[in-house]
Amino acid sequence: MSKARWGILGTANIARAQFLPGLREAGGTAAAVAGRDAGRAEQYAGDNGVERAIGGYQNLIDDPGIDALYIPLPNSLHAEWTLRALAAGRPVLCEKPLCGNLADTVRVLDAAG
Ligand SMILES: NC(=O)c1ccc[n+]([C@@H]2O[C@H](COP(=O)([O-])OP(=O)(O)OC[C@H]3O[C@@H](n4cnc5c(N)ncnc54)[C@H](OP(=O)(O)O)[C@@H]3O)[C@@H](O)[C@H]2O)c1
Repeated sequence: MSKARWGILGTANIARAQFLPGLREAGGTAAAVAGRDAGRAEQYAGDNGVERAIGGYQNLIDDPGIDALYIPLPNSLHAEWTLRALAAGRPVLCEKPLCGNLADTVRVLDAAG
């Protein structure tokens, strides 16, 4: 079975400190990281052993070389970007807290099916 290729939305500390070590232990591939600033994403990818850097979160969501997305953005952005990823048919692992209010939580869970 081929390794799942993960994409990371944002150059987050928790991705570097927790997600990436866990991913390596589990046998997944850190395929790409997206940042609001392409240069910062490039630096983060090089520093943390991520294969590619991408400018802009939507470009990562739409990238055909990704199987699943990890979303460690600030809490206020979780609902928006989880919904965008789900709309593109992507499996999502979103950092906690998933959402800051019940309405957003219901929208995200409905979209996840
Ligand atoms: N740190 C922990 O121990 C911990 C523990 C449990 C849960 N979490 C959760 O993990 C998530 C990320 O936490 P973190 O501590 O890793 O945060 P962080 O280092 O600040 O990373 C968040 C990333 O989001 C992107 N971003 C997009 N819009 C932003 C904005 N307006 N302001 C700041 N950053 C923005 C930034 O990447 P680009 O600019 O490169 O796009 C930034 O690197 C949060 O949901 C938090 O609750 C963290």
